[in-house]
Amino acid sequence: DSKKNISIKPYAPNIGAIITGIDLSKKISNSELKIIKDAFNNFLVIFFQKQQEISPENHIKLGKCFGDLHIHPAAPKMKNFPEIFEIHANKNSKIANGEFWHSDVSCDDEPPLGTMLQIHIAPACGGDTMFCDMYAAYEALSNPIKELIGGLTATHESEHLYRGRYSDRGMDDTGTIFPTAVHPVVRTHPETGRKALFVNRTFTTKINELSVDESNVILNLLFDQAEHINHQIRFNWSINDMAFWDNRCCMHRAIWDYWPEERKGRRVTIKGDRPK
Ligand code: SIN
Repeated sequence: DSKKNISIKPYAPNIGAIITGIDLSKKISNSELKIIKDAFNNFLVIFFQKQQEISPENHIKLGKCFGDLHIHPAAPKMKNFPEIFEIHANKNSKIANGEFWHSDVSCDDEPPLGTMLQIHIAPACGGDTMFCDMYAAYEALSNPIKELIGGLTATHESEHLYRGRYSDRGMDDTGTIFPTAVHPVVRTHPETGRKALFVNRTFTTKINELSVDESNVILNLLFDQAEHINHQIRFNWSINDMAFWDNRCCMHRAIWDYWPEERKGRRVTIKGDRPK
């Protein structure tokens, strides 16, 4: 019975769990899939440890167990595998991916529901990824602020982030139109029915119904709220660990504290719905 040796250990009271006993390099069974989906909904980000390196083909197959795959609007595509986004920083890098708090590609009309990242080269220490719980961030707001933001929408832009970003990987983005989307400030998770804050410092540029000054104040309040230390965890990677996070209810931030060392991995993202 494949369930017998599977363990799910919470990482922090609100967010995160470590799953052992599922070999992601093999085809996962229906019962394993159910365990993973339930843990994903309960813990927001799940970490699979003691894994083998998963080939791009198998990573794509694994991602497709959870839905169709999303193709990144700006990042260079891996040769023959456009669904794979390579995460890589070394001594020549000028930037590293995901250095500021964000929910992946929230600038898309239908941002990806989840992301699966496996790290293959890790620095001797450092290179952690932080995650924060956007349900907890919402729930900890006072009622008057919840009422204020309940009916508001925000603009999520990407040109400021993506234009020229991948020129060091040979990308010419002349003429590229980068996505912009409008989403509710508070979204309801389609599977859990829980409300989560859905604004982030990387993509969210304004609250549409407010003046610029008001928008800046309220956005900063919400960013600070989301990034409060009580809502966060910090994951330290071992080689071949796989993280699977839910972009609808958590944000993440990759810490680039290991220059000039190298860190490398591959991720796939699973298509999501329009936030409601
Ligand atoms: C990202 O997907 O934002 C990068 C995450 C990481 O490298 O840990």
